[in-house]
Amino acid sequence: MRIYNLGSLNIDYVYQVPHFVRPGETLSSREMNIFPGGKGLNQSAALGKAGAEVIHGGLLNENDGWLIEVLRDAHVDTSRIRTLHQPTGHAIIQVEEGGQNCILLYPGANHLFTPEYAEKLLEDACPGDILLLQNEINCLDFIFEIAHAKGMQLVFNPSPFCKSLMELPLSYVNWWILNEVEGAELTGLQEPDGISDAMMETFPESNLVLTLGRNGSCFRNSALRLHVPAVPTEAVDTTAAGDTFTGYFLAMIARGAEVQTALQRASLAASIAVSRRGAACSIPWSHEVPAAP
Ligand code: RIB
Repeated sequence: MRIYNLGSLNIDYVYQVPHFVRPGETLSSREMNIFPGGKGLNQSAALGKAGAEVIHGGLLNENDGWLIEVLRDAHVDTSRIRTLHQPTGHAIIQVEEGGQNCILLYPGANHLFTPEYAEKLLEDACPGDILLLQNEINCLDFIFEIAHAKGMQLVFNPSPFCKSLMELPLSYVNWWILNEVEGAELTGLQEPDGISDAMMETFPESNLVLTLGRNGSCFRNSALRLHVPAVPTEAVDTTAAGDTFTGYFLAMIARGAEVQTALQRASLAASIAVSRRGAACSIPWSHEVPAAP
């Protein structure tokens, strides 16, 4: 079973700040680093480092091949990535003490997907293959339709959330991976139980993974309810914690692991990612993630 990830490739400009910039304020940062990022790139890197077979589809400027190298080094198949003259997507990320972040995105080439490119990317996909998507590329409506027509398993991380996502054929989603903020936007509810109940009511055939930060993660489908606690860690940078979780979780599911085992391993991997700076480069290799207790 192959995993296709059609997703963003970003350059992250990461600023260490005492607090997030306030309206009207000019703030000097303590440090600035340039890292590879993008939810698409990060999740492919996590899948590759976790040992999954993953093909990445994405677009970037012809002079930013170093992002492709990052994916290649993480054992991702990059042969279908296309380069363009247009600028690569980027993110301005503020990280405050304690590791919390806020992110401003410029989509750039990530929003230049075409139906023709999407079709080409998935031309050899077979029923049962996995398609992973986030919300940092365009053409999602078209890509949902191709995946459904081909009988692929659609895994959707609706991040970052925007209202137009509600117009997608969301009933095609087999696996949801989302956090509380995205859950609240999708359901209008705040509490994890309420979010899970509402998601199950609307999408009864789907599997739901809800990440809860310090409170761990939970899983729901029509037959099973699980909760796995978070692994306590001193966070220095939470960027890509969710992406690490998603990649590791999916890699485990793709190789037939039980959901509980997959959640535990994903939590362990994410706890390592938050203890390091940056996005893709904070994602641990499989051998660095201890076996679940
Ligand atoms: O999830 C973290 C990622 O969000 C960053 O790498 C940034 O590029 C944005 O896409």
